[in-house]
Order: sequence, then C-alpha cells, then structure tokens
Amino acid sequence: MGLVLPFLNLLFLLISHSISHADGGAVGVNYGLIANNLPSPAEAINLINSKNIGRIRIFSPDHNVLNAIQNSGILFQVIIGTFNDDVPKLASDTNFAKNWVETNIIPYNAIKFHCISVGNEIIPGNLASSVLAAMGNLNAALKSYNLNIQVSTTVGFDLLASSFPPSSGDFKGDYKGIMQEISGFLSNNGFPLLLNAYPYFAYASNPSNIPASYALMNSTETVVRDGSLEYKNLFDAMVDSVYSALEKVSAGGLDIVVAESGWPSNGNGEFTTPSLAQTYNQNLVRHANSGTPKNPGKSVETYVFALFNENQKTPGVEQNFGLFNPDMSEVYHIDF
Ligand SMILES: *[C@@H]1O[C@H](CO)[C@@H](O)[C@H](O)[C@H]1NC(C)=O
Repeated sequence: MGLVLPFLNLLFLLISHSISHADGGAVGVNYGLIANNLPSPAEAINLINSKNIGRIRIFSPDHNVLNAIQNSGILFQVIIGTFNDDVPKLASDTNFAKNWVETNIIPYNAIKFHCISVGNEIIPGNLASSVLAAMGNLNAALKSYNLNIQVSTTVGFDLLASSFPPSSGDFKGDYKGIMQEISGFLSNNGFPLLLNAYPYFAYASNPSNIPASYALMNSTETVVRDGSLEYKNLFDAMVDSVYSALEKVSAGGLDIVVAESGWPSNGNGEFTTPSLAQTYNQNLVRHANSGTPKNPGKSVETYVFALFNENQKTPGVEQNFGLFNPDMSEVYHIDF
C-alpha cells in the first residue's frame, strides 16, 4: 500500500499536466496581426504559453510568427491559414501548392501543424468554388512528403440558410453542392470542418428575443427545446445546427472545430463590456470539452478570438475582441 498512493499521486500529476499543457486541452487562441502596436511574435508566444494555452490559430503563413513558435521550445499545435487570395492559385496550380508546403511547413519541423485552413470565411463567397481543388492539391503535396496534417477550410455561420431550431440547420441552396463535395473530401480523409460561430452577433442583432444568459452561456435552465434535445446556450445550438446541415449533405459524422468564437469588450454600448466578454469567454473555455446536446460525447475543439485587441481592424466591436491589450496587460482575466 505504501507504494500505491505516491504512485497514484504521480499519475494524477502527469494526467493533470497533460490536460493543462500543449496538446491536452481542446482550447486554443487566435493570434491575429491586424494592428501596428503589437508586441513581438516571441513575446506574444511567451504570453500564450504563460496562460497554458497549447493551441494557436494563425491566419496566414507569417514567417516571423512561425519562427517564434518554432524557437519557443514549446510543442504548440497550430492551425495555419492560407491567404484567401492564394486559394485560386492553390486550386489551379499543383506546383504552387507544393511550393506552399515547401515554404511554410517543411522548414518548421519543430511545430506540430494540426491543420491547414484553406482560406477564412470564403464560403459563402465568390472564391468558394476553388476551395475543394485547393484542399486536394495541398493534401497531395503534404502526402508526397509523408506529412500527416489535416486540410480543411473555415466557413462562416452565414453559410446556413436556417439554424433555428438547430435540427432545421441547412446550408444555403447555392452552396449545397459545394458543401456536399467538400464534406465528402473531409470525411474520406478524417478531417474536420472549421466553423466561425459568434453567439454575440446573433444576440446583439436580436436582444429582445435572445435571453442574455443563453448567449453568455450562463443560463442554468433550458431555453430552447428541439425535439428531445434541450439547449441552455446558443453556442451549442449554433454548432448543432451545422451538424444538422452536414447531415443533410450526408456528412453527419464529420467533426466540427470552432475556429473562432468570442465576445467584444467594447464598441457597442451595454452589449460589450469587459465583464460580459469575460463571462462568455470563461464559459466557452470551460465548456469546450463538454460536447453538444446532439453529440454529447464529442468535445468541440474551440479557438477563442482573439489574443490581442487589433487597432487596424474596422473601428467598433471588431477592434475589441482581444483578451489582452497590445501592452500585454489583460483586458479581463480568463483561466485556461
Ligand atoms: C450571467 O452573466 C452576466 C454577466 O456577468 C450576469 O450579469 C448575469 O447575472 C449572469 N446570469 C446568470 C443566470 O448567472
């Protein structure tokens, strides 16, 4: 017996260590760069590590950022985006896709690339028809180097024609064919679909019909009943409406990764205070491993938007999604 307890304690330490670091937790942060006053990439990466965040999403293959991650000595898991403007070329030119991998992935062998996102919110949009071929060319280039990295795309929630109740979730008619093909590619390869989902925008545009606690994820009561499923928060309802839309293109088994969610701390009066943003983001982080009513066993890997307030985005709420000010002080406190 004397040996068992210390052993269990050690095991517990190892387990809790693996949950709170690098590849354990299902929560990451978006590191955006649309600002002229941010700390250096090395300082930003240190800050992320100091918060025990093991997953980072970046929007473009920025070599200064990649070097900082590579040189940090921490095995972060990274979702890396391609520039939207590069998607048509990635789709039409296999050499361009190969070169993209050779330039932005191969040199960074100390980074655990988790997924490449072909564009951000270009579905819906006029580049949507290039996404499948771009994913295919990048996937082939990665395979030719024996690299085991997921390839996907990040869709906006406005891709849905219907999302309420969640079981009615359905892609817009113009995009159904594209989503059927993309979902087929993703499920054949075991890759997830990346989704940007912001309960804030739904709430702020319709506050008289959406209870604040339902949007903020702190309702203790069921707010929406959908058949036998009970919803206490809008985040789950949004994710489940996309699962429902995927079922309607025969891809109900796909994993969804929420590539962006968050709440602005300023820019829209009473709807955007540090306290509301803190409430939402803390509940989001706590909730990430819980699954949704439709898929209770399936944790939804989630990336908070964003690391910093970004002063070159559109004035108003868009500049105020950050967890941190550019001087690295907290806008409000979140435990990861
Ligand atoms: C939810 O959080 C908000 C903001 O912090 C707070 O004002 C409200 O009282 C909370 N609601 C519940 C039901 O706890």
